[in-house]
Amino acid sequence: MRAVADPGPAVGSVPMLALLQELSARAWPVSPLRHSGDLAWQLAGRLDGLSIVAVDDAAAGFVDGEDGLCVLVDPARAELLDDLLDHFDSRTVLTVDTDHALLDRLRRRGYRPDTAGWWSRQIRHSLTGLPEPVLPPGFSLRQMTAFDLVERVAVHRAAWHPSQQTEQRYRQVMATPTYRPEFDLVVRIPDGRFVANCLGWLDPITRVGVFEPVGTHPDFRRQGLGSAVCLAVMHALRAAGATECVVYPVLGHPTSVAYPLYRSLGFTDGPEVRRYVR
Ligand SMILES: CC(C)(COP(=O)(O)OP(=O)(O)OC[C@H]1O[C@@H](n2cnc3c(N)ncnc32)[C@H](O)[C@@H]1OP(=O)(O)O)[C@@H](O)C(=O)NCCC(=O)NCCS
Repeated sequence: MRAVADPGPAVGSVPMLALLQELSARAWPVSPLRHSGDLAWQLAGRLDGLSIVAVDDAAAGFVDGEDGLCVLVDPARAELLDDLLDHFDSRTVLTVDTDHALLDRLRRRGYRPDTAGWWSRQIRHSLTGLPEPVLPPGFSLRQMTAFDLVERVAVHRAAWHPSQQTEQRYRQVMATPTYRPEFDLVVRIPDGRFVANCLGWLDPITRVGVFEPVGTHPDFRRQGLGSAVCLAVMHALRAAGATECVVYPVLGHPTSVAYPLYRSLGFTDGPEVRRYVR
């Protein structure tokens, strides 16, 4: 087996996140498993707690909770998948059904799709011809500022109750280099409260945007607020040069209602994201 480099804490979170994000963009045409914005949202402040290995700056892998092993590999160096699979020897591996190099290797190693748990699908929307967002009278869209942190975290926590989100963690998200406040939008009601939110991210290499995450306060659902704030983020992404927006709603889970929201906005089905288990 080729030597894998465990960069350890000395490398620091920001360079490691940047490497993962660059690999996500290189892998994207064949393996759109993790968007760089999804990596920033999910891993901000947590990188030092993960065991991440990188090989030749062309591949990296880490095990993240129930998702199992996540691999980001330059398609021109697909052989490095074997190094990562050998190194981690993980019972669970996250896959996307366009990544045949990974799927072939997993099948040969005795892995099978996990049909018991949740799965996900990348769904996508081109950013041309978007309708304008529509809000009820008195409601407004607002871009996040550092002064809005308390309200911003409160609306996230309400939408995702019970949520682990904290102000400290949100600050870490905002400190990631690819965070841009013009993609962090909320719906504000006349008394000043935030009641819906969508955080968008733009990958500068692929020019693909992603929502991560979206939420509406339970008292304000089915009033078109989720749709409006997502559309507003899509306009902002397009203005910044994005050509497409994707999102990865959870499917096969009783409480997941995001897929119908995005379908109602015109998103269409892309590749399937599933765990393989052994
Ligand atoms: C998913 C969520 C953001 C929807 O927000 P919302 O403000 O209620 O969405 P909208 O009112 O804009 O809904 C637009 C359309 O989406 C679909 N939709 C939204 N919620 C739905 C639900 N619970 N069941 C079925 N369809 C639903 C409907 O087609 C709806 O149009 P309609 O109300 O005219 O039928 C909200 O339920 C939420 O915060 N859930 C918890 C967090 C979450 O799952 N976020 C998404 C993760 S990717």
